[in-house]
Amino acid sequence: MTSVLDLVRPDLRAFTGYASARREKATGHVWLNANESPWRSSADAGLGLNRYPEPQPAALRARMADLYGVPAERLMVTRGSDEGIDLLVRAFCRAGIDGVLIAPPCFGMYAVSARVQNAPLVEVPLDDDGKHFSLDLTAVEDVIAHGDVRVVFLCSPANPTGQALSIKEIQHLAKTATGKVVLVLDEAYAEFSSVGSAAGLLDEFPHLILLRTLSKAYAMAGARIGAVLADPDVIGVLRSVSAPYSVAAPSASLALEALSETAQAEAKSRIATTVRERDALVRALRGIGGVARVYPSEGNFLLVRFADADAVLKRLLAAGVVVRDMRAMPQLGDALRISIGTPDENAAMLGALTR
Ligand SMILES: Cc1ncc(COP(=O)(O)O)c(C=O)c1O
Repeated sequence: MTSVLDLVRPDLRAFTGYASARREKATGHVWLNANESPWRSSADAGLGLNRYPEPQPAALRARMADLYGVPAERLMVTRGSDEGIDLLVRAFCRAGIDGVLIAPPCFGMYAVSARVQNAPLVEVPLDDDGKHFSLDLTAVEDVIAHGDVRVVFLCSPANPTGQALSIKEIQHLAKTATGKVVLVLDEAYAEFSSVGSAAGLLDEFPHLILLRTLSKAYAMAGARIGAVLADPDVIGVLRSVSAPYSVAAPSASLALEALSETAQAEAKSRIATTVRERDALVRALRGIGGVARVYPSEGNFLLVRFADADAVLKRLLAAGVVVRDMRAMPQLGDALRISIGTPDENAAMLGALTR
């Protein structure tokens, strides 16, 4: 087994998906082929929303490819990276047969997508040495070599535990994955990390797939825009199983604006502020009574263990500060996850904790 396409569900290998009207390469000026309204709504602020959008918005695709340092044919624009996760599981896992590997505690949507596809879940828990979490590389490699797993989801920097894999580790895992599984590296928080992206490895490793999103560093969570970066053949397969128009025209248009030169400069400066605030918060939280452990983080959040997490959660809520309760997650029975806010919001959170 050498080609990554050999790992695609056999029943989907020759599948081309829905032939939408917008996929047909017709030219003309009287458009009567898609049962659209010929008139624009009065609510339409100039986007021509009476017409179906491009299945893959070309200008946004090109700008995101530029942002992430890959050629456009290696990138699929998705409705958030949640859509990418779902498409990958559906394309590669036969229901009830091909497994999905995750390393909990981790982002919950990998397991949700596996559950929806009835793909068996194989869990390789993260190690916690008392100072930070780390991936059990040997155990992951063991499952890849001997398990019935098709898709491996790793997250770097990891949500909610904060650690990042080095490019060397990713390279090593990608080598192990070749011919056996698709290795999906979720880089939702890469902009906040000193490690950077593994996009430079994509040429060498067709079994490596990256997930990116505009929801975090680019402040577009409400627009639902993400991307899958992968071998062009994998992109073709994912497009064949996706909904015909998953990226709405207003979202694509706003995302393009969010990646203008000015907006990118603003995002860069906000990323720097977030990283500064994050590192200051680590120091501040470590000095507060009742804080049992603050994990180092490469993301825009901190994972914190408390002597009495319940009391802390209630105190914060009473002050109007909402953080994420992680106590239902494995190994995190006393932990809360705190997103890094504006300097004022962070001060309010610290104030509520120390009051
Ligand atoms: C690791 C990780 N991946 C993906 C997502 C989902 O991102 P999106 O908004 O692009 O669907 C999140 C959201 O919190 C996340 O933490």
